[in-house]
Amino acid sequence: MKLIMLGAPGAGKGTQAQILSDKYGIPTISTGAIIRGAIKNETPTGKAAKIYIDRGELVPDDVVIDIIKERLDEDDCKNGFILDGFPRTITQAKALDAMGVEIDKVLDIEVDDGLIIERLSGRRECSSCGATYHIKNNPSQKGEDCERCGAKLVSRADDNPETIKSRLDVYHSQTEPLIAFYKEKGNLAEVSGEGTVEQISEIALKALEA
Ligand code: AP5
Repeated sequence: MKLIMLGAPGAGKGTQAQILSDKYGIPTISTGAIIRGAIKNETPTGKAAKIYIDRGELVPDDVVIDIIKERLDEDDCKNGFILDGFPRTITQAKALDAMGVEIDKVLDIEVDDGLIIERLSGRRECSSCGATYHIKNNPSQKGEDCERCGAKLVSRADDNPETIKSRLDVYHSQTEPLIAFYKEKGNLAEVSGEGTVEQISEIALKALEA
């Protein structure tokens, strides 16, 4: 199973990818998480990418395409994977095609912009394994610690109102055109992301297995 998660920032891509990854036993590849790791480790890629992430802009296509090429070559991707946050531009989608990757389904999670602010401002992320929570909608059973690995939960630096606004603008102008791109290819599954995490995963699984 090779899947792409599409949707605005905060639509629930990472949350649903986590559930699907557990169900299908395939890894989630989040370009955002890989880039945040590079920033934390102060690698040259991380230092260059930080400027874009802090502004809520996309990291240049060539950088992200190289990251994905390298990651898809790893052994754990042999039986499938879930791409969370890639592709995000038509150029990236065409680069994936050029790599010979055949995607089974593209899951587009649709959420109104109004809900995004509420979701992102209450998001907490595990500082170690990257698991995602929400202080009200999807709290950790261990309070301020991750229920998966026990590490501290933190807020993401780009989850502030100004950067969220810029990420939404970037989504509408540069990423939304991918919906038509994959609709034309015939592998797009559109689901509403407005409901509980459990309701959305049930709908998503039905859409993927249809
Ligand atoms: P990235 O890390 O990919 O962030 P994003 O796309 O902005 O998406 P998010 O992680 O914010 O949201 P999500 O849809 O995963 O929602 P989540 O499940 O967490 O990218 C960050 C940055 O990296 C980009 O801005 C860019 O600069 C760069 N980048 C990354 N990829 C790139 C690429 N390909 N090209 C160029 N640049 C790239 O859910 C959000 C919150 O809502 C959580 O708290 C969750 O618990 C809660 N929630 C989820 N589902 C529900 C529900 N059904 N009901 C209630 N609450 C819910």
